[in-house]
Amino acid sequence: MTSVARPAGPPPDDAFRAGQRPDDAIASGQRPDDAFRAGDHPPAPPSDLNALDQPIWPRTARRRDGVLTIGGIDVRDLAGEFGTPLFACDEADFRGRCRDFRNAFGDDDMVCYAAKAFCCREVLRWAAQEGLGVDVCTDGELETALSAGLPAQIITLHGNNKTVGELARALDAGVRHIVLDSFEEIARLAYLAERGGARPKVLVRVTTGVDAGAHEYIATAHDDQKFGFSLASGAAAEAVRRVLGSPDLELAGLHSHIGSQITDAARFESAARRMVGLAAAIRDEHGVQIAELDLGGGFGIAYTPQDHPVEPAAMARILTETVDAGCRAAGLRRPRLTVEPGRAIAGPGTVTLYEVGTIKDVPFDGGLRTYVSVDGGMSDNIRTALYDARYTCVLASRESAAQPALSRVVGMHCESGDIVVRHAYLPADLAPGDLLAVAATGAYCRSAASNYNHVPRPAVAAVRDGAARVLVRRETIEDLLRLDAG
Ligand code: LLP
Repeated sequence: MTSVARPAGPPPDDAFRAGQRPDDAIASGQRPDDAFRAGDHPPAPPSDLNALDQPIWPRTARRRDGVLTIGGIDVRDLAGEFGTPLFACDEADFRGRCRDFRNAFGDDDMVCYAAKAFCCREVLRWAAQEGLGVDVCTDGELETALSAGLPAQIITLHGNNKTVGELARALDAGVRHIVLDSFEEIARLAYLAERGGARPKVLVRVTTGVDAGAHEYIATAHDDQKFGFSLASGAAAEAVRRVLGSPDLELAGLHSHIGSQITDAARFESAARRMVGLAAAIRDEHGVQIAELDLGGGFGIAYTPQDHPVEPAAMARILTETVDAGCRAAGLRRPRLTVEPGRAIAGPGTVTLYEVGTIKDVPFDGGLRTYVSVDGGMSDNIRTALYDARYTCVLASRESAAQPALSRVVGMHCESGDIVVRHAYLPADLAPGDLLAVAATGAYCRSAASNYNHVPRPAVAAVRDGAARVLVRRETIEDLLRLDAG
């Protein structure tokens, strides 16, 4: 390899940042170093280590004789029957959150569960039984939904790089909407539709430029990223022109998704306002009224006591009022609203149960931190390593009156970034063999799990009214070896 002399001056990344004020950096989703460090200070220990802070834990979580129970089942029994790590999913919680969203929005509006948060046949059935549609973003999710018996008419297909095969399958199945994400895709779908004879209903995905205030990797509406058509550049208006110009596509509406784990309703409000503005511009240019406005998902949940999410009813009121007012002012017919919550449905009702292994006290900054190793880690929860996510955990298999010890829950993988809970206060008498429960792991943990270090992925069990059953069975090493063609 030839080495190239570095140009004088700052590297491009720094040059880019040099022109930014700190608030610009925050607006663009970057974390200035100081803000990052401030957030890294351990919070104060909770007053009661055994308490279950209700917004963070599944709705049926209780302590019975000191032991955590979910859905009426003792976690020691769950660990005994299904092994650890285990995702224990409270069915009543999942269904209850579907109902909360369903009741929050009007009968004509639509709530779709975003399957990427957690996808298996049974939870997709729960969502459908509770009156929700389902969003999928790959053929794997689409086939799961179809094989669960969901009608194609409640399924929406997303994705920034759908294959021809995926588009053809969605057309063939007759899904409700296909969300268009690029000019190539408009042409590709029109071509497939013309050959197949179906006229798919499509939404145009718009990047509104609204800052989601979330981690850079889960913000999706700023211009410098891969999703959708930019509103500011005119690409969104051009996409609408091309769809309306195609006899093979039916423009069903517009779509916006600004990001994920958003706890500030004002961000959704801004996006809704900009989308109504686009709808008015479309009416002015084409004389066409937009029938459906899909405002995406991204509704945040409580992972720690510091998180204060907006309840579905409040979110629905804000979105509805914003759209109603915008439409009135512009003289537009009020479109049907759709929202696509994933995390806010699947996240809070599931906990991960781990068995405690090695425990080490390690000096840091003049203090001691207890490193508690568990039998899983970044292969079943990549969120801490990837987004610096924060979690809450408790000793689950018993209660303890011991002093709080500042702890870090780490996995069993060969990486020092293999952290599950960055800051935890756990009882000082924690011992190998104890069970830990990490709260709010129902979204983007099992669904983003990997086989790193050749670790089989954990099972997911549903608990309800004192009974437990497998939703997804635990992988085995034989499963992994079966793929190994050597
Ligand atoms: N609709 C669209 C078009 C989406 O892209 C997403 C999420 C959702 C709905 C659902 O968003 P939710 O309500 O679950 O926030 N792995 C990341 C989150 C990635 C979200 C991707 N898109 C995490 O663990 O935080």
